[in-house]
Order: sequence, then C-alpha cells, then structure tokens
Amino acid sequence: MCGIVGYVGVRSGLEVVMSGLRRLEYRGYDSGGVALVYEGRIASAKKAGKLANLDRELALHPLPDSSTAIGHTRWATHGAPNDRNAHPHLDSSGSIAVVHNGIIENIAEIRANLEAAGHEMVSETDTETVAHLLHEELKGTHDLAEAVRSVCRQLEGAFTLVIASGRHPDLVVGARRNSPLVVGRGKGENFLASDVSAFIEYTRDAIELGQDQVVSITPDEIVVTDFFGNPAETKDYYVDWDISAAEKGGYDWFMLKEIDEQPQDVADTLLGRHDASGALQLDEMRLSDDELREIDKIIVIACGTSFYAGLVAKYAIEHWTRIPCEVELASEFRYRDPIVDRSTLVVTISQSGETMDTLMAIRYARQQRAKVLSICNTNGSTIPRESDAVLYTHAGPEIAVASTKGFLAQVVACYLLGLYLAQIRGLKYGDEISRIMTDLETMPAAIQRVLDESEPVRQLAKELAGSKSFLFLGRHVGYPVALEGALKLKELAYLHAEGFAAGELKHGPIALVEEGVPVFIVVPPRGRDQVHEKVLSNIQEVRARGARTIVLVEDGDDSVVPYADELIRLPKVPTLLQPLVATVPLQIFACALATEMGHDVDQPRNLAKSVTVE
Ligand code: F6R
Repeated sequence: MCGIVGYVGVRSGLEVVMSGLRRLEYRGYDSGGVALVYEGRIASAKKAGKLANLDRELALHPLPDSSTAIGHTRWATHGAPNDRNAHPHLDSSGSIAVVHNGIIENIAEIRANLEAAGHEMVSETDTETVAHLLHEELKGTHDLAEAVRSVCRQLEGAFTLVIASGRHPDLVVGARRNSPLVVGRGKGENFLASDVSAFIEYTRDAIELGQDQVVSITPDEIVVTDFFGNPAETKDYYVDWDISAAEKGGYDWFMLKEIDEQPQDVADTLLGRHDASGALQLDEMRLSDDELREIDKIIVIACGTSFYAGLVAKYAIEHWTRIPCEVELASEFRYRDPIVDRSTLVVTISQSGETMDTLMAIRYARQQRAKVLSICNTNGSTIPRESDAVLYTHAGPEIAVASTKGFLAQVVACYLLGLYLAQIRGLKYGDEISRIMTDLETMPAAIQRVLDESEPVRQLAKELAGSKSFLFLGRHVGYPVALEGALKLKELAYLHAEGFAAGELKHGPIALVEEGVPVFIVVPPRGRDQVHEKVLSNIQEVRARGARTIVLVEDGDDSVVPYADELIRLPKVPTLLQPLVATVPLQIFACALATEMGHDVDQPRNLAKSVTVE
C-alpha cells in the first residue's frame, strides 16, 4: 500500500512526482503529498483524499520549482486519513522530509524516547518519528545516506522510506525492507518509485533493489548499499510494456479496459510455452525436474481473488497429476503450524508480487525447507525474487484495484503448472498435453465471444441496481467462480454478496433465499453429467423459494431453460477450463452495477491494490 516517488534531475520535480503519483494512486488514495528541495529548505504540500484534492491545494498555494522532489499517495495504517497524517512528514527543523510505505513495528519505544528528548510530533504516524530520528542522526554527520542507514538499523517491521533534505540538494535517498522500491535510471536524472509505472514515461531502464538496501540517487549517479554501507548487488532490467498499457485508452474505467484485454492476456500467458520438440517449458523454473519429481504434496497459498485462482488450480492439478493439493489463505498459513517439508511444493499466486501475507507465508515455507514456486504478474517484485521458481503471467499492468485480467491469467498459469508437473512426472503423454494446450489456445476466442455478447449482462445490472443482496452458486470449478463473482460485487458495489458451493446450500445458506433475491448459478458443462444434474436441482430449490435465477450455462444446454429467469450463454469449453469464460460475465455485471450506483469502480472505498501490510 501507499505509492512513493522520488526524483532528481533536470525537469520540474513537482511535475514528475505528481505524474508518478497519478499512476500509483491505485496503491492507496487516502491522502497525497509532495516535498521539494528549495533554497536549502523543504517546501511541501499535502491533502487528505484523492490526488485531485492535492492538485487543488497546489493550484491555490503553488510551490516553488525544484528538480529534487519526493511524493506520496497513502493507504492509511497509523493514524486517520486526514491532512495531518498525510505524508511527507518533516522533522522539527522542517528541513528533512520523509515518505513511507509499510508499518514500523517498534515505533512506540522510539517515539517515546524522542518525545522524552524534547521532540514534538504533530501527527499520529510512525513516519514522522523517522523524520525526527533522522534529525538526530544528522547532528553527527552530513552524510544523508549514512544517517538513513543508521535509522534503518534501528527500525523493525516493513518499510520503504524515501527522503529529501534541504541541506542536500540534488540528492534523494531511499531504503527498503519488506516493502517495494525500484530505481529508474535516466540520463542526467534518476527516479525512485514503488513500481515502474511511476517513471516509464521517462525511462524504461530499471534496477531491482534487494532486501535491506539503501539507495542514493543524484542526477548522474545511483549508489546502492546494505544497511551497513557495504556495496550491494542489484539487478538491472528493462521494462518492456508500453505506457499506453497503464493508461485508460478511451475507457471510462481501467477495469473495463482490463476486462476487455483478457483474450490477449490469456493468449500472452500461453505464448512460448513449448520448446522445439513440443514439450512444455516454464519461464523461470529454477527447480530441476528431479526436484519436482520428489514432491509429494502441493500447497497453494494466496489472498483474495488470487486465492480463488488457487481453488481452480486444485481441481486441475489433482486431476492431472494425482498429487494432493491443498489451497490455503496466506494470512492463515503460518499461524496453524502447517505440515511442510522439503518434499512440499508451495505455489504462491500474486498479481502484484508484493502482498505481505503471501510474502510472509513464502518465508515461512522456505524456512521449513519447502520449495516455493510463485505465479506472479509483476516482474521485479518481491515475491518472485524470494521464490525458488517463478511462472510469470503476462497480463500487463493491472491498475483497477479489483483484479480481473490478473485472475484469468493466474488461472491459465495454474493450468500450465499442472500440465508441466504431469509432463515431467510422466503422468500424461505428450499428445494428451498437446490436446489440452490446443483447448487452452482456443480460450482467447471464447472469452472474446463472451465479451462481444455481454450487453444483456450490462442491462441486467441496471435492472438489479436496487437489490440489496446477491447469491452466487457453483460446483466443482464453478465454486471458485461463484466466490469470485460475489467478491467483485462486494468490492465494487458495496453490497451483500455471498458465493457458495451449490451443494452447501441446503446446509444453511438457503435460509437467505427470499422473494426476488438474485441468485447467479454457474452450471457445469454437460460433460460432467453427475455434477450438472445436481446443479439443476439446486436451481430448482432456490427458485421454489422465490429466487430470481440468473443461470450461466453452455451453448446448447437447454435443460436449465425452464428454471432460469435469465440465461447467460457461455461458449462450450472443457469443464476444467470453464472458469475462463464463466468469470467474465460476473466481472462485467459487478462493474456495470457499481457504475450504475455511481461508485468509483477503479478505486473502491477502503481498498488498495497492493496490500503490503499483514
Ligand atoms: C480482489 C483483489 C484482491 C487481491 C488480493 C491479492 O479484486 O484484487 O483480493 O486478489 O489482495 O493480491 P495479489 O494477487 O496482488 O497478491
């Protein structure tokens, strides 16, 4: 959470930082602020609410121009989201400005010591304490980076810090522990940011920072050390996605654009997965085939929508590999003393690659000697860096806070992983794998068809905009689809929405059904006759109790017609692949309903894109 930008160079620092913050606003939008180094002091502005409020503040009270600047867009943790707690925070002399992402865990004691020494804090944040600590450190040295290193050695928890000082023109210092920070290398200018989208307008040459590192940027130099001042290893990389991918491209919402990009994302995630002999290959599979053959259990770990992708993975992986596969919420995993050892493969799924719950689960799993493979959409992020192997999804940057294209790409990556394990363990013949790959390669066209025929779904959303409660039912892989449909609606429309395994209905949830309540039901393809028949009964059960049934069913299946108040037709696809088409109308429905209700679809209340706190 929280987006951070730092700049030194030749341009207007304010412009660079504000444009970076706009691209990072998905990370948090409780407040925004900027600080500039100007004539030996700090000039700053900050405002609660979205960046538009900061824009207005800057128009009313312009800041002087400067080519050294830092900025912040906040997702509140310590202290309410108001002007006072907005970043940047300054020390008591007003000459050091700090922006911060994360939570510093041992701050109470540090703050008490500083207050006892006469420092007065004006905010409730942990960040302000860091500014005061730096003030103390800079009494003994003029070296800002050294002062930052010394402060970092005293801090516990998760933090990215970016610091500007009035006494240090043309210098911005950053530090990171358990929280993201990347460097952008320009010509006569350099950048720091929570992610590359903040600076790709200016440069595509980026540097990955490692854990516990401090970076100093001047217009011509980038120096990276560990927290003790030793030179540190970093990794350069080139950002190959286009700036237009991070812009709305004519859509009202990023989410609409991202929903529409799904056929391409699925195609891109499937691209280049064969070698010359036709065998499957995965990109950063740093685990040997022998290591993967020794695995006797898989645990998939993720949060939110990514967790639901994991639930889909379980069906496919167990079916194709016969390896037992559990799926676990990352936030629960390490607290239940899980049985994990060197023959366990932990698969984590994360769009952002920065989710703290997932990262902590990875660290725990690796301590237990498990091998960790991460499915991730963000190159250079922390989760793939800390994993033994990576399978990248190629969905491009996902900006809307609610995940859509990220989910579909994750599901595809899970299928690829299942097939790869089946291949190296000799559980499927090459032609069987090729057949499933061919099915997968038809999915972009199938998803495109769902998109092309989605107008009735939008109309339905308009019609149902007054409903207070929604239920979603599914069985087999339709169950995670139901959960995802309900989550999208909760996040975007702030309505009561619940997803259930259709078979569970009679064990309690059916009590929620009353006259007129909309119930979405995902019907499995006829290929799974047993499950299909059971879902048919479930539709009748809710309808008999007054539900308005909205049935998602494959082409040609007319068995549901008598029990469906609304029909949403899906292309005929193999059962295991159905989530790729069945999820899309539910995304469109949630987006359209929230729009109808006047909500901000891209930035729903209380949420942030990248959840870097536990
Ligand atoms: C829901 C959503 C969240 C994320 C979750 C995990 O639309 O976006 O539930 O799926 O916070 O995020 P990642 O995948 O970045 O680890």
